[in-house]
Amino acid sequence: MQLIVCDSYEEMSTKAADIIGALISEKNDCTLGLATGSTPVGTYRELARRCAQQSLSFSKVCTYNLDEYVGLGPDSDQSYVYFMRDNFFSHIDIDLSNTHLPDGLCADIDAECRRYSDALAALSGGLDLQLLGIGINGHIGFNEPDDIFIPDTHCVELTQSTIEANARFFQTPDEVPRRALTMGVRPIMRAKTVLTLVNGAAKAPILKQALQGPITPHVPVSLLQLHENAIFIADREAAALL
Ligand code: PGA
Repeated sequence: MQLIVCDSYEEMSTKAADIIGALISEKNDCTLGLATGSTPVGTYRELARRCAQQSLSFSKVCTYNLDEYVGLGPDSDQSYVYFMRDNFFSHIDIDLSNTHLPDGLCADIDAECRRYSDALAALSGGLDLQLLGIGINGHIGFNEPDDIFIPDTHCVELTQSTIEANARFFQTPDEVPRRALTMGVRPIMRAKTVLTLVNGAAKAPILKQALQGPITPHVPVSLLQLHENAIFIADREAAALL
């Protein structure tokens, strides 16, 4: 496991963009696992800037997002499909048909989970890189703290802590969906590189547990201690307790 500590959010975002950019330069048709939330926004902004300068092209890149709220679709500005278009896809030269998220509006949740799991399982060699943020409760994607690790795509009841953390994106906490579809831990662990970004003092306790605590499904991110190529990039505030 590699830990890179940066002075600022901007530096963290630039370093993450360097790693993703280097991968795309090496393999222009690579497959990326992507995340939503505040943490990766700076990375997406920096990658879009490089794409606008034509130093980077996503024209052959394929993406799979971690998760989506149940009941929200592309027309809802709180959905993750909307977030990805708004923050990233509409600013780069990616072919939208190469971008994938679980369908929050699906009629049959079990069938949708199977479809998404099958698509990820069919990637030969797995994702080239999975980008992650972490929740203050240690979740990755919406793999919430639990007694077990769940390998494949599944529907989760969001924990109270996640609902409260995500309420800032909604008018009222009551509007936060209670359920989400999330990639399980198998495709994350199968990714060739897992790049986890962590910033801000609020994440310092969970980053310490993630890197220095026991490997436990009660802190899902701790599983990355077993990954052969896990890179954490943290700002000084998040790394303060290490
Ligand atoms: P954040 O969310 O980037 O908005 O802090 C991270 C997460 O919940 O995974």
